[in-house]
Amino acid sequence: MANDTLLIKHTGNGKQVEYPLLQSTLGADAVEIRNLYKDMGCFTHDPGFVSTASCSSKITYIDGDNGVLLYRGYPIEQLADQCEFTEVAYLLMHGELPNQQQLLNFNQEINDRAVIHESLRKFFDGFHYDAHPMAMLVGVVGSLSAFYHSEMNIKDPVQRLRAATRLIGKMPTIAAASFRHSVGRPFVYPRIDLSYCENFLNMMFSRSSQNYIDQNHYIDPGYVKALNLLFILHADHEQNASTSTVRLAASTGANPYACIAAGIAALWGPAHGGANEAVLNMLAEIGTLENVPKYIAKAKDHNDPFRLMGFGHRVYKNFDPRATIIRKTCYQVLEKTQSNDPLFELALAVEEQALKDDYFIEKKLYPNVDFYSGIIYKALNIPVEMFTVMFAIARTAGWVAHWLEMMEDSSMPISRPRQLYVGPPRRDFLNIHNR
Ligand code: ACO
Repeated sequence: MANDTLLIKHTGNGKQVEYPLLQSTLGADAVEIRNLYKDMGCFTHDPGFVSTASCSSKITYIDGDNGVLLYRGYPIEQLADQCEFTEVAYLLMHGELPNQQQLLNFNQEINDRAVIHESLRKFFDGFHYDAHPMAMLVGVVGSLSAFYHSEMNIKDPVQRLRAATRLIGKMPTIAAASFRHSVGRPFVYPRIDLSYCENFLNMMFSRSSQNYIDQNHYIDPGYVKALNLLFILHADHEQNASTSTVRLAASTGANPYACIAAGIAALWGPAHGGANEAVLNMLAEIGTLENVPKYIAKAKDHNDPFRLMGFGHRVYKNFDPRATIIRKTCYQVLEKTQSNDPLFELALAVEEQALKDDYFIEKKLYPNVDFYSGIIYKALNIPVEMFTVMFAIARTAGWVAHWLEMMEDSSMPISRPRQLYVGPPRRDFLNIHNR
């Protein structure tokens, strides 16, 4: 309600202060508490930011109880059904959907910016032959800052937009180069005649004797559609750990390439971008169809640390809207590729048995987006160690949108949390002979 406040009372000294409630367009309001320390002499303690809004944002809205995800107000279901990924990237960055001409110009700019400097390409030669693609991605994206010093005035909106578009454009090229280096294949240059997803697949899978996508542009449209969908679903998820990392780094005035590299580093952790890889590892561990009931029982056993990977979500407690969308595509891709990989049969058996099990029904544990995304990536021949890299390509759209939003807000202070100190009280230094 407008003008509502939150009254905070210190029961020790009786002091009480009313704090205004800031109104949201949708979802929970937030108490404006930045004067709490000045007023009351204490901090708030909220490890993991469970109840803390670190900023206000106009980009993405999530309602975990009702399975709602909106980008700039548009339901994810509508965008996933009707958009190409770059259209969604434009929406996230600019706040509005592009018209035809704007999308044409944006796509052209993305394609023009997909090439990387030859010196940057040579960076890959310095990585060990078996380097993890994420290790290369984080290093190479950070080093883009060494190539664009003259264009890093973050106070200039034109330079900011150029940097954001450059990052979206170059990410698939750097990602594919990371993969090719890790398997010892030569680098494939981006092509201006291909779409974002086509270009990525071509750079990943072309052979020196044969382009993955030939001059007649033939590629199975189902593959491109599936990749496009996955990129849209992973493009943004409001203040998740990697996006918050980008914002934290950006609050110091760091350049955009350094900020996005920080986001990539945060995404790398298994609790964030590594979940779809964990699903595939779990399926490999389960091994055979006969083992599925045994592993479902393990997941239900409180004395066993095993959990069904790709099930449950911290925010979505009834269903993950992205999982609902992706499920159908997952079946279509599996049908199309007619893959004989026994992992797929196993995945479908795990899904079927868990969904009719009382434990999973009662606790509202449904497959999340990453249960299916890993399976689709596998069917598209994307190697498991590239899964988090794929996530990073898509999430770059969200990261740069948040970075742009932040840079436009001149009132944003440096992010500098406080702490509840629980270490030793003041004590005097002891000479080494007296310890
Ligand atoms: N398998 C078995 N039991 C589970 C699972 C699971 N995947 N997930 C939750 N539970 C059980 C818990 O044991 C707990 O049971 P209890 O109430 O009897 O103690 C109950 O369900 C609630 O679980 P919490 O851990 O409290 O739920 P929380 O919201 O904290 O965790 C999380 C969410 C971390 C995603 C969890 O469901 C999980 O570990 N899932 C598997 C990993 C995974 O798929 N992660 C990817 C998430 S999607 C993404 O990040 C893009």
